[in-house]
Amino acid sequence: MGKVVGPGSAITDVTGYVQRFPVPGQTVQGNRVQFGPGGKGSNQMTAAHRAGADVCLIARRGEDFPGQVLREHYQNEKMSQKYILATPDQSTGMALIEVEQQSGQNRIAVFLGANEVLSREDVRMAEEEFAGAGAVLVQFETGLEPILEAKELARTYGVPLIVNPAPCRDFPPEVFSGVDYVTPNETEAEQYTGVPVRTAEDCEEAARKFFALGVKNVILTLGSRGVFWHDGKKGTTLDALKVPVVDTTGAGDAFNGAFACALSEGLSPDVALKFANCAAALSVTKPGASLSMPYRNEIVAKLKAEYGIEIEK
Ligand code: RIB
Repeated sequence: MGKVVGPGSAITDVTGYVQRFPVPGQTVQGNRVQFGPGGKGSNQMTAAHRAGADVCLIARRGEDFPGQVLREHYQNEKMSQKYILATPDQSTGMALIEVEQQSGQNRIAVFLGANEVLSREDVRMAEEEFAGAGAVLVQFETGLEPILEAKELARTYGVPLIVNPAPCRDFPPEVFSGVDYVTPNETEAEQYTGVPVRTAEDCEEAARKFFALGVKNVILTLGSRGVFWHDGKKGTTLDALKVPVVDTTGAGDAFNGAFACALSEGLSPDVALKFANCAAALSVTKPGASLSMPYRNEIVAKLKAEYGIEIEK
């Protein structure tokens, strides 16, 4: 079993399912509203955990009702909360999500609350967790400092570092230097590189811009167009898998968490990508963010069915 460690956001999502997205000024009637565990950091760690890794998320939450939703989630999943630090003077981060039922697409407004005060020291406190890790995984839903500390610890202990630069933030470009894998979606790739990634040539160009910042591998998640991976020598594309789409919230998180899990257990990047592609496809067939993350047995079966690859169950 591999181990995935990193600082990240822990958020409670309020998701409303609507027939069609309202236009500005319009009111539409929703069908269903649901409170659930979310946050890119926590979603990705849940994905890695369900995919088969031992995980350690370093995060902050408030001592309020949304914080309790997260606590219960960690209890139900039997995931450690040792480094999910209660912060009495801050509210738990929250996200307001609309999911359009026709398409499964989502729109998200996020309020970071306690996630904004996660510090470098918080991450350093968990140093021993980095020592035995097989992958360090970070996103951009916290401040910059905890991310820089995680980068430093990954380097100290020689652990591969995956940076999912979501959501797009105005961090200094040095945040990308020495990163083993960067995993933006198409919107983020365009925002960081200035290249709209519509064609294979665009993907190559965007990858070159990331390489110039010191990234070693570029993985672009392109939604229904699949995944583009460049290892510095050549670029390859993996088609998106065809599945019935219910809710796309957290699909990128499923991808990143599963990818980190696979790398941490020593699978090759090529197999890890396919494992992650299967996880992302499975996640969109279920509603919710953390709760839509697939389990290892489902991913392993899909990996065999789609690519003929067999790995340990
Ligand atoms: O990536 C999906 C997540 O983004 C949601 O769970 C929400 O919390 C926002 O952080």
